[in-house]
Amino acid sequence: MSHLSHIEGFVIRDGKLFFSGCDTVALARDFGTPLWVLSEDLVREKCKKYCDSFRSHTSKFSVAYAGKAFLTTGFCGLLKSEEMGLDVCSAGELHTAKAAGFNMDRVLFHGNNKTRMEISLALRFGVGRFVVDNLHELSLVNQLAKEANLVQPIFFRVTPGITTHTHHYVQTGHLDTKFGFGIDNGQAEEAIRVSAGLQNVKLVGLHCHIGSQLFDLSSFKAAIHIVLEFMAKLREFFPKQGLELDLGGGLGVRYTSEDYPPPIEEYVDTLYMTTQSKTKELGMEMPFLWVEPGRSIVAPAGITLYTVGAIKEIPGIRTFLSVDGSMADHPRTALYGSIYCAVLANKVSEASPDDILAVFCTGAYHYSMSSNYNRLPRPAVVGLSKGKPRLLVRPETFEDLLRHDENPSLERGLETANRGNF
Ligand SMILES: Cc1ncc(COP(=O)(O)O)c(C=O)c1O
Repeated sequence: MSHLSHIEGFVIRDGKLFFSGCDTVALARDFGTPLWVLSEDLVREKCKKYCDSFRSHTSKFSVAYAGKAFLTTGFCGLLKSEEMGLDVCSAGELHTAKAAGFNMDRVLFHGNNKTRMEISLALRFGVGRFVVDNLHELSLVNQLAKEANLVQPIFFRVTPGITTHTHHYVQTGHLDTKFGFGIDNGQAEEAIRVSAGLQNVKLVGLHCHIGSQLFDLSSFKAAIHIVLEFMAKLREFFPKQGLELDLGGGLGVRYTSEDYPPPIEEYVDTLYMTTQSKTKELGMEMPFLWVEPGRSIVAPAGITLYTVGAIKEIPGIRTFLSVDGSMADHPRTALYGSIYCAVLANKVSEASPDDILAVFCTGAYHYSMSSNYNRLPRPAVVGLSKGKPRLLVRPETFEDLLRHDENPSLERGLETANRGNF
């Protein structure tokens, strides 16, 4: 199992894979496959690592988990109990947080094309911070906040002009991106000057997110320097006290043993200390710090279980092993060419049909990016805590697939079997 030395939270006992204290073969049997499994214990451990690392420096911080990585109402409950903040980027994520009773003060609202409906909803819910992406949004937020008779605290999302070493689809800190206001091209300064004339928004700080699955802390340091220098230049537009800085998400994880992200503690220490020394140099107040980690909190906590089916050998070329899942439940390989580690959960030897295959590190951007491609019902999500499973999301049924079809003549005498063994 040396090729799995980078994987957290599992043990092999009697030739079987146990994850977060649970027998994964029993989980596959009881809940059916494919099955998304999420170790709530590991998620809590990561949340604590983030919060404890910040707390060792300051009380002025918020770790706002990025809901796009994975979000359900049950999961919001876990985040609440860990005193986390939450970053949402759609009315759907916002609605999920609200339904779970999440404290809206702790919510950041993202998105590069927030609609009138989404802005109104977020204002009505009392979302803590809007991360404003463009001038169109700025004027809409101001107008709708005025109609609601309130003053909305905002950040501007700025692009520091940094190219990071990651897949080009998830690079977001360089100038040629649809996200945010460029610092170099003067757009960020223009937005700040415009906002100063508006009565119903209050600029409290800036936000930047330079990319995802990042391993190199020097990119974060460079971004902090650029953003703080820019803030210092325009300091008269920011609050004298209560300044805030949001450094986004982006810390990478170990999908394979060749991935070497820095530990969470080192990442937090670097962000804090870089901000501290740069603000000192610039004669600024140390800001309240926000971060928005997604992947580094949930990815390692997830595994996906599949049942092995057809095994096809193409002589002299390769052997294809098929499982009962697809890009519908595992989208990142098709999208980004991502590589994952896997193991047979029921025996440590060569695969034969009906074996259970466990694919690691699938907690982030799997459930949340899944689809019904090929008209496949989505699998269940099972949370594991202290050796006990609980259903976080029930599996979709064939009936669920038909739920939104408009076809009055449809005979409903169809098979309605669940995908799992319920
Ligand atoms: C604005 C913003 N914040 C946070 C995140 C989360 O990033 P990660 O999952 O890499 O930590 C993303 C991801 O795309 C993002 O766009």
